[in-house]
Amino acid sequence: MAESLEAALAALRPALLDAEHLVRAVGAGRRRRGGAAPPRWERAELRPVDLKAGRHLQVVTYAEGAPLTRNEPLGAPAEAAVDELLAQPFGNWHVQTTTETVQLRVTKKGEAQVHRSTSGTVQHTGHDRTKPHLIDPGDPLFGVLGAGASKRRQVDAFLRALAPAVDDAPLPADRPLRVVDLGCGNAYLTFAAYRYLASTRDVELVGVDLRAEARERNTAIAAELGWSDNVRFVEGSIAAAPVPEADVVLALHACDTATDDALAQAVRWQSPLVLAAPCCHHDLQRQLKVASPPPAYGLVTRHAILRERLGDALTDALRAALLRREGYRADVLQFVDAEYTPRNTMIRAVRTGAAWDAAAEQEYAELTAAWGVTPYLQALLDAGQDAGTAAS
Ligand SMILES: C[S@@+](CC[C@H](N)C(=O)[O-])C[C@H]1O[C@@H](n2cnc3c(N)ncnc32)[C@H](O)[C@@H]1O
Repeated sequence: MAESLEAALAALRPALLDAEHLVRAVGAGRRRRGGAAPPRWERAELRPVDLKAGRHLQVVTYAEGAPLTRNEPLGAPAEAAVDELLAQPFGNWHVQTTTETVQLRVTKKGEAQVHRSTSGTVQHTGHDRTKPHLIDPGDPLFGVLGAGASKRRQVDAFLRALAPAVDDAPLPADRPLRVVDLGCGNAYLTFAAYRYLASTRDVELVGVDLRAEARERNTAIAAELGWSDNVRFVEGSIAAAPVPEADVVLALHACDTATDDALAQAVRWQSPLVLAAPCCHHDLQRQLKVASPPPAYGLVTRHAILRERLGDALTDALRAALLRREGYRADVLQFVDAEYTPRNTMIRAVRTGAAWDAAAEQEYAELTAAWGVTPYLQALLDAGQDAGTAAS
């Protein structure tokens, strides 16, 4: 049922200023009433952020696609910012708190249609379905990209892993952040990562893929979004594509050893942050088929499905170990519920520069010797070191 717009907007105000319970709010779109002036910004996003100086209200406004971020202290400055935004003639407000989601739409008659729901709220159960999206699923970005619901969930979950890692990693603050998405395919992650990261800093993002049609499609989308100056696409292999050394390396489901190529590039560039969600793992699977398993493990490897799962686990454990060898703090984690993709493992590595010790080296040597395997990533990294030694 339609209600007074003034009253409905006034009712949103306390939720926007409640920094304990606000998750995120977005004001966007024009009002449809004939002659209605456009809002000053195409879109405004609000969310609480914890800074060294304490909790603030982050306000991101978009003009001609370009985001401008400011962090307002709670109290009078935040109130003034919220009042200014509520006074803008946005056509919609989407407000998500820890207990409910409020959707306000301005009708043609200039009234408010308000929908409240408790579904999709943040219950902190650990299930992705109940977690808030970092980027609103209704964001026009997804309309342009055409990503399906499952892909949006995967990308959103990837961003949820990226968000704290970006705060944690030793990233440069005096120049634009250089990010690459290796094996970017249709660039759902590339564009979503840009949308997210560019709301707080200057970002230059390059997507790399073997396929010419991916580059052509993605370049056209970047132009449509008005992001061509900051988001570009290169056709070529991860190992050889001409891209600048990146601060943040992303790889989502880069096939088989393409993930190893991405990790090896990150090591070569000494990238401070790497997030890679691997896809299939054929390299070690092939080696396990012919190698003799350690005594007693034959009971596992005689079953193709179990050998495959073991191969996946070994591959990612050894990848993480090799990243530690190269001066990274590396973890393997589940980044999204299996219902959205069975390929839901992520390797997260933050460069610390600390080399591994003799015990870690021995552990790695024992595990590879026991299974009779040489991971592709090891071969890549060793070849890189040999080339470096030969050149020096
Ligand atoms: C499964 S798709 C994933 C695409 C995208 N990251 C996503 O998650 O939607 C894998 C992509 O990696 C690309 N690819 C595979 N091997 C590659 C390599 N060595 N260099 C560059 N791209 C590669 C493929 O062309 C494909 O587009």
